[in-house]
Amino acid sequence: MLIVAGSASSKLAERVAKQLKCELTKPELKRFPDGELYVRIPADIKGEDVAIIQSTCYPPNQNYMELFLLLDAARDLGAEEITAIIPYFAYARQDKRFKGGEAVSLHTVAKLIESVGTNRVFTVDMHAHRIGGVQEIFKIPARNLTAAPLLANYLVANYQLEDPVIIGPDEEAERWAMDAGEALDADWDYMIKKRLGPKEVEIKPRKLEVEGRDAMVIDDIISTGETMVEAIKITKRRGARKIYAACTHAVIAGDALEKVRKAGAEDIFATDTIEHEISKVSVASLIADAIH
Ligand code: R5P
Repeated sequence: MLIVAGSASSKLAERVAKQLKCELTKPELKRFPDGELYVRIPADIKGEDVAIIQSTCYPPNQNYMELFLLLDAARDLGAEEITAIIPYFAYARQDKRFKGGEAVSLHTVAKLIESVGTNRVFTVDMHAHRIGGVQEIFKIPARNLTAAPLLANYLVANYQLEDPVIIGPDEEAERWAMDAGEALDADWDYMIKKRLGPKEVEIKPRKLEVEGRDAMVIDDIISTGETMVEAIKITKRRGARKIYAACTHAVIAGDALEKVRKAGAEDIFATDTIEHEISKVSVASLIADAIH
C-alpha cells in the first residue's frame, strides 16, 4: 500500500502512513501562470494499491482538481486498487435540487471521482443530511466514517468531567451527539435550530437537564461559529458547569473561534480533516483502520 499525500492533507497522510507502516509519497505540484495545476507522483505505483488522501476544504475547486489529477494519474500509471480518501468532502451540502435549474453538486463531484477510475471512497462525517448514506451517491463502494467517538475520547482524556452530557446543536447533529454519548456512556441530546440567515441562527433546547453538569457541544462543522455560540449560550443559561465545543471539521471563518471562546467554551477542538490550530484530534487511526 502506498499513501499519496494531497497538499490539503499532507500532515494527516503522514500520520496514516505511520500508523500503517507503509510508504508515503508527496506529489510534486506546480501552478502555471494562467492558474493551471501540474501534478506528478514521484513513485513507481504500477501494480500498487494506492490511497490518495486529500480534503477538499478551502479552496475547494483547487483541491478537487488536484484530487482528480492524482486519481487519474494513479489509474494511468497502472495502480492496482485506488482508494480516494476525502476527509472533508466539499460540495456535500448541495445534495438535492432546491430550486429548478440548480446543479446537484454532490452528484457532480461523485461522478467525477468515479469517472477517473477510483475503486473506493472514504470520507469523514460528510455533511449530507438529506441522503441515506454515501453509498447512495456512488456506484463504487463508499463509506462515511465518524470522528465523534474520537472527539469524545479526547474530552475524557484531557478533562476531569462532572456528570458529562453531550449535545448536538441541531437536529442534524443528533447522530454525532449519539455516537459521542455512546462512546462515553453519557447522556446525549440535540437542540432544534432554525437558520434565519447565513450568519444568524435561532436554537431551542429540548428536555435534557444540564444543570451542574459538564457539557460537550458537538457538530460536524464550525464555520461562522453562530450555531456553536447559540448552543453554548443556551447550555450556559440552563446551568451547565463547564462547556466544551467540538467539531469534526474546523472550517472556521473569520472570528468564529473568538466568538465561541467568548460565548464560554472552555476548549474548542476539532480533528485534522482540515489542518487548523484547533485540530487536536487525529482521524489517522480511523482512516488507517478503514483502509486496512
Ligand atoms: C449545519 O447543519 C452544520 O451541521 C453546522 O451546524 C453548520 O455548518 C455550522 O455553521 P456555522 O458555524 O456557520 O453556524
